[in-house]
Amino acid sequence: MKAARLEDLPASEDLADFGDQRVPRGEKASLVRALFNGVAPHYDLMNDLMSAGIHRQWKAALVDALNPAPPLNLVDVAGGTGDITFRIWDRMARRFDAEAMAACRLIVCDPSDGMLGVGRDRALDRGLPVAAVQFIGGMAEALPLPDTSQDAYTISFGLRNVTDMDAGLAEARRVLRWGGRFLCLEFGGPVAPALAAAYAVYSDHVIPRLGGMVAGQEDSYRYLVESIRRFPDRADVVARMERAGLARVHARPLLGGIATLYSAWRI
Ligand SMILES: C[S@@+](CC[C@H](N)C(=O)[O-])C[C@H]1O[C@@H](n2cnc3c(N)ncnc32)[C@H](O)[C@@H]1O
Repeated sequence: MKAARLEDLPASEDLADFGDQRVPRGEKASLVRALFNGVAPHYDLMNDLMSAGIHRQWKAALVDALNPAPPLNLVDVAGGTGDITFRIWDRMARRFDAEAMAACRLIVCDPSDGMLGVGRDRALDRGLPVAAVQFIGGMAEALPLPDTSQDAYTISFGLRNVTDMDAGLAEARRVLRWGGRFLCLEFGGPVAPALAAAYAVYSDHVIPRLGGMVAGQEDSYRYLVESIRRFPDRADVVARMERAGLARVHARPLLGGIATLYSAWRI
């Protein structure tokens, strides 16, 4: 179906944002899935190009905050091509021996077969044990995991794609054990005033063109920019996390507020 322009439609419970468009709520997930299936082959390269490699520092900040150690059951929701999961695995594998690592189960959970397929290939290329890192299909709003089964939950640049963010956060709490850790990386302001104008020009003019040139997906990268702009601000996300029952919520702005590292616990 053809999506309507936002300004043509009244805000409604039955509609959801899809970038600057509003689409029937029930359609958003399949539109997002198709979009990520399309960008999957160039996704990791585009991340480096768009951010000049800075996303690596942000992801390192998440892994630092997690400070992972075996034994560990972790789910990386919206895990895509496995980038966060591989960083967590690598961090532990540098510090712990094979026997300790055998007690780790990392799950990459994502609804996009295309993203998961790239992730599985990356895991094979790295020679990771098949049982230790699993790739499963699933949505943040309905995780295919038992209650209190995970020591840690991560979601990196995924929350803004989740149609029902509150349901996604409630699921994070449900699958975490008591004392389990929640970490989320996401874009979203407010951005420091000194950076805001340059960031807006870069977002509107450079990112979609880069996406067109490198991945042949200009519209998809325009969605990315629009979805960042529509994502709630930091205080709103913190309030939603608290409402979902996550505790000791903390939000740390990164690079002048362009991204934020959210952390919390289930207690
Ligand atoms: C921008 S990518 C992030 C990938 C990876 N976490 C990273 O940081 O590089 C967003 C991911 O969210 C996934 N996604 C979209 N809707 C989702 C949902 N409702 N639940 C879970 N993941 C979703 C997409 O398939 C995509 O792989």
